Amino acid sequence: MAPLDDAAPLPAPLRGASARALAARYAEVRSASERLVSHLSPEDLSAQSMPDASPAKWHLAHTTWFFETFLLVPRLAGHDLFDPRFGYLFNSYYEALGPRQPRPQRGLLTRPGLDEVLAYRAHVDAGMSRLLSGDCDELVDLVELGLAHEQQHQELILMDLLHLFAQSPLKPAYQRPAPHPATTAAGAPGWVGFSGGLVEIGHGGEGFAFDNEGPRHKVWLEPFSLADRLVTNGDWLAFMADGGYRRPDLWLADGWAQVQAEDWQAPLYWEEAADGWRAMTLQGLVPVAPDCPVAHVSYYEADAYATWAARACRPRRNGSMRLKACRCAAISPIAAGSPPTPRIRRARGCARCSVTSGNGPAAPMAPIRASSRRRARSASTTASS
Ligand SMILES: [Fe+2]
Repeated sequence: MAPLDDAAPLPAPLRGASARALAARYAEVRSASERLVSHLSPEDLSAQSMPDASPAKWHLAHTTWFFETFLLVPRLAGHDLFDPRFGYLFNSYYEALGPRQPRPQRGLLTRPGLDEVLAYRAHVDAGMSRLLSGDCDELVDLVELGLAHEQQHQELILMDLLHLFAQSPLKPAYQRPAPHPATTAAGAPGWVGFSGGLVEIGHGGEGFAFDNEGPRHKVWLEPFSLADRLVTNGDWLAFMADGGYRRPDLWLADGWAQVQAEDWQAPLYWEEAADGWRAMTLQGLVPVAPDCPVAHVSYYEADAYATWAARACRPRRNGSMRLKACRCAAISPIAAGSPPTPRIRRARGCARCSVTSGNGPAAPMAPIRASSRRRARSASTTASS
């Protein structure tokens, strides 16, 4: 396997297009999927590391199945199904389209092989080229949905490959190490206050959005604050050094149960070495960079961290702040609004977090629930509380 120098940048979203532009956009997104895996072996692309992950080969076929099922079959006269059995193999969860291969068993699909999956992609791409050569005004929304869906799976390909490679004692690198971005030492964060009130959320523009991003609607927000920077690996090391993974008083009850059941001691993909912590990334196993944003922490970990940081930030009677307090968070312990659904990581596979590099830019953490803050005081109270 020859690691890539860099991941190819993803194309910009489609914003209204002629037939030619739509076809070009289709080709661009589809080829980006194949570039992502062009340097990997068929074995790399066929393995499944856990029930919630899928082999990259399956992702390549599933996104193709989407275009064949929802565009070519109903709209392209004379289209020949590449293989009628693929509907069972590559349907993900579309109940109306019938039964399908169980997700935990996608790694058992040694047939079709990678070559056949790539031939399937070429067959569907040829059909799409014919379909998009005519009047396609009515197809734009559906094509754009298919392309956004394919881009979702491009992210999943990288996420699942990272999890797969992390299981290997060889710790293979998906791509060559990139020069470490210049960072400055993260100082204490400042806090930015928001007054809250009646606000609008949800997609309301003309561009593409998934159906669960709308409709735009009003919600009431209590006043809240956000830190002006993300939580860093250095912040997280301070949390760990203060017993963050050993103190049940910091954790939601379900989270503490998971800490114990899975022996969490650090963020996912971190490993302790003689000379410090290392993180498995798409560039292989690399030293944890203190000033980069922390990644691959679960909702429960983010909540425990926020509790720890909030306590550390609490003013003392004389009004002073504990210094540690202020190496806190880009997550506010007083954030309010609609509580998010807790994201429980199965096998610690966190779909929420950045996968481009466990040591690089991270997605913002989940906001903190204002309700249901039932905390474990001790392991013994977890089950009954
Ligand atoms: Fe999908």
